[in-house]
Amino acid sequence: MAISIKINKTQQSRIDQCDFENIEFGKIFSDHMFKVDFMDGKWQNPQILPYGPILMAPSISALHYGQAIFEGMKAFKNPQGDALLFRPMDNIVRLNESALRMGMPEIPEELFMEGLSTLVSLEKDWIPTKEGSALYLRPFMFATDDFVGVRPSNNYSFIIFCCPVNSYYPKPIKVLVEEKFVRASDGMAGFAKAAGNYGISMLPTMEAKKKGYDQIIWTDGRTHEHVEESGTTNLFFIINDDTVWTPSLDGNILRGVTRDSCIKLLKQRGLKIEERRISVSEVIEAAKSGAMTDCFGTGTAAIIAKIAGIGYKGVDYMLPDSENRVISNWIYKTMYGIQTGNHQDDFNWVVNLK
Ligand code: COI
Repeated sequence: MAISIKINKTQQSRIDQCDFENIEFGKIFSDHMFKVDFMDGKWQNPQILPYGPILMAPSISALHYGQAIFEGMKAFKNPQGDALLFRPMDNIVRLNESALRMGMPEIPEELFMEGLSTLVSLEKDWIPTKEGSALYLRPFMFATDDFVGVRPSNNYSFIIFCCPVNSYYPKPIKVLVEEKFVRASDGMAGFAKAAGNYGISMLPTMEAKKKGYDQIIWTDGRTHEHVEESGTTNLFFIINDDTVWTPSLDGNILRGVTRDSCIKLLKQRGLKIEERRISVSEVIEAAKSGAMTDCFGTGTAAIIAKIAGIGYKGVDYMLPDSENRVISNWIYKTMYGIQTGNHQDDFNWVVNLK
């Protein structure tokens, strides 16, 4: 059945106020957003409306119990000026996996895609084209019942808004191996892109920042002996520029779309991929001995975040000069090239909205 989206356009675009040459991540929002509400057991009233504050009751369980999930996606422009999406179906699947874990309703693929493509087509002029930039898309769903008890809500809203962005990290980051706090353990919701998984990273990250680090590396909840992911990205450790270590999807880490894309591209380049449990001690040993020739985080917002050094038990293990990294430079160029239609898309990842 065709989906009919009501479109209420803004009276006054704000695009002239956006300095596309100097964009700070997450601070500028485009003119419109997509919204659809779940009521009486079904998604209703899909609409595009001007980006702005939303009305909500103070009691909604998204605010009290964290029944809220989100996704991160990006739109790009190719040299012909078409709007491109990168692997949008993977985000829909992951959003619905998160929804299931959090006791929330799934969103039909057709509704998600129709809302997303209508919004991005309308906001096409907001897609920046400077190297490294993109239109960041933030789909999210939250519980909206006006009720204070702990039970799944009957009502939800799903919204997508857009921000023109540059890469999340403007320079290589120094990370600290977290040994006190835990992000997820077996049976928890580590694989879900649930709001609370990020809320609990704030304090440990603040503490790491006070010590001079940019981010933390989460370790497993039981022993703190295995690396999982960083506060904002999945992790890749490159050994002798020919072998890749990346933590396996054990239910406690996010199934990153950029992570999966990197694995496929690195495999295509001929690198040996070891997707498995990775101990902190082998990471530190490889950094110490010089075997670790490269190390980076991957994510939609960060794309490829080079890791300059790893802090562990009071010692900083600095990694090779970030300018001369063979693998991270190549993977960034290839990935961003595919996303922007400047590199051959062998895996059919790009959806052209033309
Ligand atoms: C993304 O990479 O899209 C994310 O959601 C990470 C977020 C912390 C910015």
